[in-house]
Amino acid sequence: MATSVLLVTGSFRRLGNCEMFAKEVAVQTQIDQIAVLRLTDFTLKPCMGCYRCLNPEHRCQVKDDLYFILETMTAYDHVIFSIPTYVLGPVGQFKLMADRLACMSGLYPAFQRIGAVSAVFGGIESWRGVTQSMVNAVIRMMGFRLTGSAFIEAALPGESLDEAHIPVARALAEALCNPDKPFFPSKTLVCPSCGSDLFFVQERRLICALCDSSGEYRDGAWLSFHDSGRFSEKGFVEHFEGWLKPKVIEYAGKKDYHRMLRERYKDIGVKITRKTAPLSDGSEGE
Ligand SMILES: Cc1cc2nc3c(=O)[nH]c(=O)nc-3n(C[C@H](O)[C@H](O)[C@H](O)COP(=O)(O)O)c2cc1C
Repeated sequence: MATSVLLVTGSFRRLGNCEMFAKEVAVQTQIDQIAVLRLTDFTLKPCMGCYRCLNPEHRCQVKDDLYFILETMTAYDHVIFSIPTYVLGPVGQFKLMADRLACMSGLYPAFQRIGAVSAVFGGIESWRGVTQSMVNAVIRMMGFRLTGSAFIEAALPGESLDEAHIPVARALAEALCNPDKPFFPSKTLVCPSCGSDLFFVQERRLICALCDSSGEYRDGAWLSFHDSGRFSEKGFVEHFEGWLKPKVIEYAGKKDYHRMLRERYKDIGVKITRKTAPLSDGSEGE
C-alpha cells in the first residue's frame, strides 16, 4: 500500500533550509507520495479568544485557511514539521496556527494516527531560543505521535544540507518510519516527560516551563521526578474539559460584573486608527 508524507514548512523562503531539509528527510524515508504545505502560502488570522470552538459542534468563526491546513494534514500517514527560528522563537505563521489549538480538538483522534517528526532551524545554535521546545509541544498537543526532533544550525539557505546534517536527516527519516527508533538528540538537559529544554528553577527543583513536570537534577540523575502528563490525552482532556470549559461557564455567570468593568475602562485612552495622529485627542485630522 502506498504511503504518504506531508512536509509542513514554516519559512516564506522557497527552497530554503526548511523546505530542502524536509525534502531530504522525506527522500530518505522512501515513502511514495511526498507533498509540501507551505504555511506562508495560506492565510492564518489571529485567534479571537471567543472560546466558541470549545463546543465541538461549533467551528471557529475566523474565516481563513486553518481548517483546510488541518484537514490536509489528516490525509497523510506522516508529517514532517520544518520550522525556522525567528527572533528566538518559532516563526510567526507557525505560532498563528498554534494559537488556534482549542479548535483542533475534534481532529485529535485523526492526528493520533499520524507519525510526525520535527526539524527546527536557526542560524546560530546559541540563538535557538525556545523554538524547538515550543514546536514540539504544539505537535504533541495537536495529537501527533512525535518520534523525532532535531535542531539544525543553518544560517544561509542550503546550509542545512551540509554533510554534517545528512545523518540527522537519515535518523529523522528512520524515526518517522520506525517508532521503535526514536531520535531526539540534545546537548543540553531535557525534560524526561516532554523533551523541552526550558526550565524554571524554584529552590532546588527544575520545573519544565512547558509541561510543568518537575524534579531535582543531581549528579546526572533526576530525583523525585513528578510527571505532569500534560501532553498526554488524559492531560489534554483534563485541561480543556476539566479547567477551560468550567472557566468559560464561570465567565458567562459573571457577565454583569464584566459589563460594569468594561463600562469603567472603555473611554480611557485615545484609540489609534490610521486616521489619528500620534498624541492627538483622537479627532480626525485635516
Ligand atoms: C527575521 C529572521 C529572524 C531570525 N532569528 C533567528 C534567531 O533568533 N535565532 C537563530 O538562531 N536564527 C535566526 N534566524 C535564522 C533562521 O532561523 C535560519 O536562517 C533558518 O535556516 C532559515 O530557514 P529558511 O532558509 O528555510 O528560511 C532568523 C532569520 C530571519 C530571517
